[in-house]
Amino acid sequence: MALVNTKKMFEQAYKNGYAIGAFNVNNMEIVQGITEACKEENSPVILQVSKGARAYANHTYLVKLVEAAVKECPEIPIALHLDHGPDFETCKACIDGGFTSVMIDGSHLPFEENIALTKKVVEYAHAHNPYVTVEGELGTLAGIEDDVKVEAGNESYTKPEEVIEFVERTGVDSLAIAIGTSHGAYKFTPEQCTVNEDGILVPPPLRFDILEAVSAKLPGFPIVLHGSSSVPQDYVKMVNENGGKMPNAIGVPEAQLREAAALSVCKINIDSDLRLAMTGTVRKFFNEHPDKFDPREYLKPARANIKEIVRHKLINVLGCAGKADECK
Ligand code: G3H
Ligand code: 13P
Ligand code: ZN
Repeated sequence: MALVNTKKMFEQAYKNGYAIGAFNVNNMEIVQGITEACKEENSPVILQVSKGARAYANHTYLVKLVEAAVKECPEIPIALHLDHGPDFETCKACIDGGFTSVMIDGSHLPFEENIALTKKVVEYAHAHNPYVTVEGELGTLAGIEDDVKVEAGNESYTKPEEVIEFVERTGVDSLAIAIGTSHGAYKFTPEQCTVNEDGILVPPPLRFDILEAVSAKLPGFPIVLHGSSSVPQDYVKMVNENGGKMPNAIGVPEAQLREAAALSVCKINIDSDLRLAMTGTVRKFFNEHPDKFDPREYLKPARANIKEIVRHKLINVLGCAGKADECK
């Protein structure tokens, strides 16, 4: 099948209590690792491209890589989405240039300006045939996204009292909200965490009260969570045991994401976990094989581990394994 937008995926995800994984892609091995797992698990998927990815790999290369994945995986629905669209022009370039979904991120703007910018993108996207879906955002996450860094403590949770007006006036198809997730691998400082009986740092729980208040105001409407990597400690260890230095890398517990996916959260963004899997694997390979220099030799296990971490997310976190057919 051809690339799809996110409409049907979100309708099914909402109705049946799961979420679609939105994984960031920057090169061929990442596209292959993700889509091979989705194909084997018969899962719908959103491949997303950031401003940084377009600057790194070039728009055309990324679109063509995703089109190749669509050709190789004709059985599963795949959407191509712009992640954190910074302005109207970037969204327009993606809508005109083969994407089936875009995010316009006006979350840093005052409410009225966020509405005006988001509405402009929605009007342009929805006038397109095929229909391009649009994600907006209210509230700001801590962490790093592209060139914007928000220090822990300067994030702001989504205000449930604003969501109806935002959705109605902009016409967005989905809404990203801030309930305590955070971008990057260093999501929480040790000071923000408590220590459990095994001596492991436990981050502050997600604000399910905010999620539930938002959902009560917008029944049936798809909610998106950014910053949802869980920072698997096995890969942090692999990085650190092989020359890396990633102290205090802590993520969102997977059980909480699974809980959110069973509620109104229909899209969960995961990027850092795949980066960690790739980096840990490559570091380990070089440590074990200092004489090797063929990129195919070190990218092959990295791609295989991306595939396995995505498989784990589809089955154990998102709940979307086996759901490809109902999302078509
Ligand atoms: O939220 C941002 C994504 O993880 C993309 O990261 O801007 O480094 O491509 P990037
Ligand atoms: P992580 O950094 O937690 O993987 O979040 C990715 C994200 O939100 C992309 O938009
Ligand atoms: Zn994000």
